[in-house]
Amino acid sequence: MILIKIYMATTFIDKNGLKLVGIQFNNTTWYAYHTMWLRHNCRCEQQCLHNTTKELIVCSSSLTNEQITVQNTHIDDTNLYITWMDNHNSVYNLGWLLEYTHTATSNKDVMASNLNVAPDLSCLDWTLTEIDDDNEKIKKMMQLVDQHGYCYIKNFGLDNQKFIQLLDQNNYPLFESHFGIYENLQPAKYNTFNKHTDQLGYTYDRVDLHTDQPFIENCPPYQSLHCICKADVGGSNMIVDIRKIYKTMKELYPHDAHLLATQPILFDRKQKDFRKQLSTPIITLDENGEFKSVRSSYFTIAPFDLPFDQMIPYYTAYNRFHELVRREEAQIDIHLEPGELIVYNNHIMMHARTAFSGKRLMKGTYHMKIIK
Ligand SMILES: [Fe+2]
Ligand SMILES: [Zn+2]
Repeated sequence: MILIKIYMATTFIDKNGLKLVGIQFNNTTWYAYHTMWLRHNCRCEQQCLHNTTKELIVCSSSLTNEQITVQNTHIDDTNLYITWMDNHNSVYNLGWLLEYTHTATSNKDVMASNLNVAPDLSCLDWTLTEIDDDNEKIKKMMQLVDQHGYCYIKNFGLDNQKFIQLLDQNNYPLFESHFGIYENLQPAKYNTFNKHTDQLGYTYDRVDLHTDQPFIENCPPYQSLHCICKADVGGSNMIVDIRKIYKTMKELYPHDAHLLATQPILFDRKQKDFRKQLSTPIITLDENGEFKSVRSSYFTIAPFDLPFDQMIPYYTAYNRFHELVRREEAQIDIHLEPGELIVYNNHIMMHARTAFSGKRLMKGTYHMKIIK
């Protein structure tokens, strides 16, 4: 193979278990190879091939984490050189590496160490002067929600009924849940309005990333949280864009991604006076096999009811997905002040809140969309 030698570079990517060596072959082509594959394919005759028979004498299963971690890389017109953390040296001919580009990725998102999983910025100032009609502002807000999965609204004010009414007259009516027509999200001892408050949302505790109402077949697509009174300490909100997470899953762990979209689990909302169940996979795909929606809630699932031989594969997929979801770079933190809101699509974003103290009160509403 003939190489066009314009500019060469290497980079080592090691982030939360993802270990890759990125190689720039010329100024347009980047490929990233798994370090496991590179170390397994070292062709040195000191340790990796037998010095007389030239047979491979290393099994990949015997390689330790240190042995597949890069100490430094160097590249010239002919070879890639890697020194590993155990001080072992490997040399790879570039022409040979180019014959194996199918074992590498050219996806820049995967090669970027942040994996490009951060949610977009999506914000609307209710007092902005370009739009003065409230209905137009609502339309703009829902456009942002549809595009970015959520919208952070500043300077709305404290009138939650006005917000509900505006959404209603723009074809996003309230969706009533088993808690009531809307929620006063505050510790249960202060809440005389909602039913079935024996759940995490009505405590002071942290609620980790989840979607709401996954046990309902047609669970509400839109959710808003309106800050009326903020916490003394804590109580901020986090959201994660699952479209980006699932795209990364498909790239890095396609078998796990497939399992999440095909293996049903039982969502089980089990409270003192309320019970509802639904069996469905965590990820729903559309007719083209692309991401459509997510359901995930660690506090409303039944014990996995899977055959013995499928338990480890499923836990592997489930854990990988939630490890990605919980990565700091996948989350956007929003500290709502009184009079501010967030609206998000509960089918594509997961949300969480930190523990808090004080008389925090969020008005929570679910909305459907009437398509005319
Ligand atoms: Fe929630
Ligand atoms: Zn070697």
